Amino acid sequence: MNIERYANKLNTIREAGNYRHLREVQHNGFLIHEGGNELLNLSSNDYLGLSANRRFKEEFFLEFDVKSLNFSAVSSRLLSGNHEYYLMLENDLRELYGKEAALVFNSGYHANIGILPALTSKKDLIIADKSVHASIIDGIRLSEAEFARYRHADMEHLRSILQEKREQYENVFIVTESIFSMDGDVADLLELCDLKKEFDAFLYVDEAHAVGVRGTNGLGCCEEQACMEDIDFIVGTFGKAFASVGAFVVCNDLFREYLVNTQRSLIFSTALPPMNVAWTRYVLNRMPEFYELREKLLTVSERLRQTLREKNFETTGSSHIVPMICGENETAVEMAELLCDNGFFVLPVRYPTVPKNQARIRFSLNAAIPDEDYDCLFEFLEKGIE
Ligand SMILES: Cc1ncc(COP(=O)(O)O)c(C=O)c1O
Repeated sequence: MNIERYANKLNTIREAGNYRHLREVQHNGFLIHEGGNELLNLSSNDYLGLSANRRFKEEFFLEFDVKSLNFSAVSSRLLSGNHEYYLMLENDLRELYGKEAALVFNSGYHANIGILPALTSKKDLIIADKSVHASIIDGIRLSEAEFARYRHADMEHLRSILQEKREQYENVFIVTESIFSMDGDVADLLELCDLKKEFDAFLYVDEAHAVGVRGTNGLGCCEEQACMEDIDFIVGTFGKAFASVGAFVVCNDLFREYLVNTQRSLIFSTALPPMNVAWTRYVLNRMPEFYELREKLLTVSERLRQTLREKNFETTGSSHIVPMICGENETAVEMAELLCDNGFFVLPVRYPTVPKNQARIRFSLNAAIPDEDYDCLFEFLEKGIE
């Protein structure tokens, strides 16, 4: 046995400035407590602030006989775990997205590591944006298909790969996020839909950071860009703006049936508890009401980008995820410490998660944070940073 190997690897991680640890924190709405300090949480995915919205939760408790909802599904969906709340949620998703079918998973990670490996074989090609999330990359690794990547958001590069390779494969899957989790930029879904039609490919869009946040009814960028019917697989997660847990795909009947029969991360995992699925469905049906929160996220994030630019920080995107590019890993770590010391809970994102010299602070905004608190952040960025 070689135990030293693990200690050595940890040292390498430490030396590269990439050491991770599990923080001990307590939450109080949009505030977070760590080591006796109270900070504004600018590092959560609770984009609409629903997770701590007491009134909203109470309304859910009033509408449901919560005591009758169990905390366990008792088995996989394929055994006896397919409780009625799943069917109600999938029915609502199907109708809202105007698709033939919907399928709910335990998490976005389960969805992304399961769908592509189930649907692809050696005869197929997956072409993914260079910046897709690790869960998609893991799914691609589990798949037997060939794999190509196009430069981030570069439609011409995607086109050239399609031109060169399309004919060599039976099925081609183009894979993207709609709002990219590190850059906060929004994919041009209309262009992707055109390309997938032109080259007879499938389009798979991960809307993890867009569901609840974009579109009139919060259905995501596919609603905002009016192209729902052209996307073959729209994936969304419930652990972010939905303040719940789980994920879904909307697609056609045949694919749903195929995934139920072949997707290992669906078949071999205990189903979500009825309590959570009922809550998710409740949130989904109330989503249209949160239009103003979605608008607020856009306004605040635009102000934040503007403030950063005025301070000569590079930033990107057009969403509620706002990167503040700092350069080297160490600079991002120092900046995060400075912000935390001044009451703003942010975390550095370092190489290799992002490209070299692109280490950054990733602001992840929450619509429940009052304007006065955002004003304090802007003031600090304007005056508190050299
Ligand atoms: C784009 C994207 N897809 C999927 C996931 C995974 O979702 P979940 O947290 O539900 O596993 C994440 C998580 O951050 C993500 O950013």
